Amino acid sequence: MPENSSSSSQRLTVITCTAPVNIAVIKYWGKRDEELILPINSSLSVTLHQDQLKTTTTVACSRSFQEDRIWLNGKEEDINQPRLQSCLREIRRLARKRRSDDDPSNDISLSHRVHICSVNNFPTAAGLASSAAGYACLVYSLSRLFGVEGELSGVARQGSGSACRSMYGGFVQWKMGEREDGKDSLAEQVAAESHWPELRVLVLVVSAERKPVGSTSGMQTSVKTSQLLKHRADSVVPGRMEEMISAIQKRDFATFAELTMKDSNQFHATCLDTYPPIFYLNDISRRVISLVHRYNQHYQETRVAYTFDAGPNAVIYTLQEHVPEFVQAVRHFFPPETNGGEFVKGLSVDSASLSEELKRAIGMEPVPKGISYVISTQVGPGPCVVEEPNLHLLGPDGLPMKST
Ligand code: DP6
Repeated sequence: MPENSSSSSQRLTVITCTAPVNIAVIKYWGKRDEELILPINSSLSVTLHQDQLKTTTTVACSRSFQEDRIWLNGKEEDINQPRLQSCLREIRRLARKRRSDDDPSNDISLSHRVHICSVNNFPTAAGLASSAAGYACLVYSLSRLFGVEGELSGVARQGSGSACRSMYGGFVQWKMGEREDGKDSLAEQVAAESHWPELRVLVLVVSAERKPVGSTSGMQTSVKTSQLLKHRADSVVPGRMEEMISAIQKRDFATFAELTMKDSNQFHATCLDTYPPIFYLNDISRRVISLVHRYNQHYQETRVAYTFDAGPNAVIYTLQEHVPEFVQAVRHFFPPETNGGEFVKGLSVDSASLSEELKRAIGMEPVPKGISYVISTQVGPGPCVVEEPNLHLLGPDGLPMKST
């Protein structure tokens, strides 16, 4: 239940929620409708654990607020951005519908303005798509504030396509749908977060010099110019979605890993096929790709997989038993600064040594400081409500607390 603080005559209703980041193993790239954010292919992702990566959002509502306002990572932003407006409008519409259907007594007036304050627990510099967690958290928080229940991934999708997948934990597919109004373009859980407890995720944060082309404009150019993208959407992804879902259901790591790598590679191939071409991978990304293939080759088994989004950072999927040795291989081939901060953040990783044989089989020249740090995490749950009132990001006056 939202909390009311009625210290003064102006009642403030406030609620705080958190939402996760997701990393696609079958990528979404390309829209058939820019406004409703409808994709040209279905996609599938893994929800990462919020202990390591999450967005926290507080929303507050009061009769005394003059206008809707939003603060992101400590800075006030423009509330009139079309995607923010779509989410606010859709939630208010659902709330109005619900009120007219039943309970007219809910005391949160829909005419009241909202204040929104949102922070990430990971640096923007980590280059992780924060829009997915951000919009999922916004939509989830507003839905709790206005008492809206049920399917909300269609609203989050209108903030950022990939955000619809962050509305669920575990393994999540976004079914592209067929309808023009987008009502069937929704996310759905394929398996719960407890389904595959040994699965681990390592985010390899690559030291990048420049900001790459954003995904929204990148995919627009790809849709306009890449024939490979059309082939991918029409003839490759449908079969891959089925194979991926079955690999997850069977916890078949080798198949899951191979499909993940092939799909990442095909996505980056469509970027190269875009005209003018878009380059998201850099030299370090390509060295991570080689490291993974040589590591797997050495063991004659697919133990580790990589995937890359619209930037140079690698996300590695592997099983718990291989984490210590693979992390040691990353440390060996990308030696970190000796007096820098901790190299591995998040879930603790046991130490391991590399055999001379493995080093020789990988046979790469080490690149000092090629990777800034690693975030070690696992599969996690969907958005949640934060119950402790001392964690609200907005104070009793409805403005951001000093620390945010
Ligand atoms: C490469 O969801 O950020 O991460 O819908 O325009 O907001 P918009 O794009 P966005 O695109 C994500 C692209 C991707 C692949 C994926 O997450 O599936």
